[in-house]
Amino acid sequence: MADGDGAAASGKLTEHSASGAEKGLPRRGKSLSGRTLNTAQIPLVASHPEVYEPCDDSFALVDALLSDKAQLLTLQPRLCMEVGCGSGYVITSLAIMLRQLASGTQYLATDINKHAAETTQATLEAHGVHADVIVTDIVSGLEKHLAGMVDVVVINPPYVPTPEEEIRCKGIASSWAGGLNGRQVIDRILPAVREILSERGWLYMVALEDNDPLDICHLMSEMGYASRVVLKRCTEEESLFVLKFWRDPHTGTSASPKSPKSESWFSQLPFKSLWHKGS
Ligand SMILES: C[S@@+](CC[C@H](N)C(=O)[O-])C[C@H]1O[C@@H](n2cnc3c(N)ncnc32)[C@H](O)[C@@H]1O
Repeated sequence: MADGDGAAASGKLTEHSASGAEKGLPRRGKSLSGRTLNTAQIPLVASHPEVYEPCDDSFALVDALLSDKAQLLTLQPRLCMEVGCGSGYVITSLAIMLRQLASGTQYLATDINKHAAETTQATLEAHGVHADVIVTDIVSGLEKHLAGMVDVVVINPPYVPTPEEEIRCKGIASSWAGGLNGRQVIDRILPAVREILSERGWLYMVALEDNDPLDICHLMSEMGYASRVVLKRCTEEESLFVLKFWRDPHTGTSASPKSPKSESWFSQLPFKSLWHKGS
């Protein structure tokens, strides 16, 4: 792990250095550089059969946040938000990670599943941190209040390619069902997040190779966001990316995906994705 020290010192976040082969422990993954990253985790104190239990993708997102911890502390976010908080593992980890900020960062989390909101609340409380947790579809009903207000958004969306109708299932299926190419929920999330991010705001989002992360970055680029891959992790089942987006006045429709700046990390993406748009 690039930066787990402060979090571990809090006594709440610990690092697994054990092999993922051990029963019940998350697997370890490889970062883009090939370096093995430890997996940060907080104890799972609350669960519900209809709520997504933290898994490789959740751990990858928290590890990516930990690797950016110094920058996050420098940013001094006033408002951090998670869309699709599930068990609360990610938003709780983030709040613990940034606890040393004296500026009084506020936290907000949404989930479409009411059991997830309850579980998140229990996880937050068990770790002595606070967030407002709201049951809603993405940020529905909050847009006006949050417009341009959120400094950090974190999302581990439902990204698994599934039949479209599975997206409308209630309960646990909504945790993973992403419809065509796993993009149907993601493609609704991105414009909504753009509206709530502040000028200096950052978005961290998990995506799967099947979601075509390069295309996601192109879409965000058209909305004026630069991007980079914070972490790539190959598990036995999937290739996960944690993408980071931030506003960049030089990024926009005119930005060429073939510019040297883009290539430095475009080349880290799967070859298949590079050719997806016929570019
Ligand atoms: C892959 S799980 C991630 C859970 C948690 N963030 C984690 O990383 O462990 C996706 C979560 O998004 C929620 N979700 C799915 N569709 C949503 C929507 N339209 N609006 C808000 N939350 C949604 C699901 O209920 C689920 O809790």
